[in-house]
Amino acid sequence: MNEMARRIFPDSKLFQELAAAFAKAAKTALSKKERITVALAGGRTPRAFYEVLVSDEYKKRIDWERIDFFFGDERDVSPMSERSNYRLTNEFLFKPLGIDKSQVFRWQTEIIEVSEVAANYEKIIRRYFSLGEGEFPVFDFVFLGVGDDGHTASLFPFTDALAEKNRIAVANRVEKFDSYRLTLSYPVFNAAKNVFFVVTGSSKASAVAEVLIGDKNCTKYPAQCIKPKGGKLTWFIGESAASDLKGKAAA
Ligand code: 6PG
Repeated sequence: MNEMARRIFPDSKLFQELAAAFAKAAKTALSKKERITVALAGGRTPRAFYEVLVSDEYKKRIDWERIDFFFGDERDVSPMSERSNYRLTNEFLFKPLGIDKSQVFRWQTEIIEVSEVAANYEKIIRRYFSLGEGEFPVFDFVFLGVGDDGHTASLFPFTDALAEKNRIAVANRVEKFDSYRLTLSYPVFNAAKNVFFVVTGSSKASAVAEVLIGDKNCTKYPAQCIKPKGGKLTWFIGESAASDLKGKAAA
């Protein structure tokens, strides 16, 4: 049975609250094992979160050298591209914290063939987690954003990756961008111990309401089907993105 919590904060407090929750949960997880794994979100929202995490308050509060980092999704661009999720994370999280490159497991998008990038990332994950045939990695923490169309990671509405039940990492054709995106699949996200959605901005309000209290339609609103089976799902929502939820029935 998965637990689901919905926490709404003033936009100005959202990332502090998320950092505090992550610091507390990471400390608990690290009291039980030597290293923990975190799959990071893409897009622009994480930057404000990282700016809190690299502040003096959190720099010392989290045992960063005992965390290994992965990416829930990536664009089919060079790791040096302005559009690369790795590049944003390296600039605003890894470099400021002095994260060693041995702790970072990224999609190797310098590989030309996009399906090869996905197959290579799957191999990296299988090796790291010592997975057997048909097994999925269990990430300690997964961070996810939501697009204004209800996508999450690179699980976009009406795309093939939504139906993926066997592979860990896939190249997903997204017609609206006329390009491929790289994404972990639902079975991976839904095997995680803790999933944090973080969303802010009025442009997301309608998608957040559809995902959380709309009719069930994961093909149209893929974020709806992020339901970690044995894990905890927590939505951190800035008030600007919660405006269509206010006073509506809970899911
Ligand atoms: C990406 C993401 C994507 C993102 C949402 C929200 O690579 O873009 O993984 O799912 O989380 O699109 O993006 P913003 O945070 O930029 O609004």
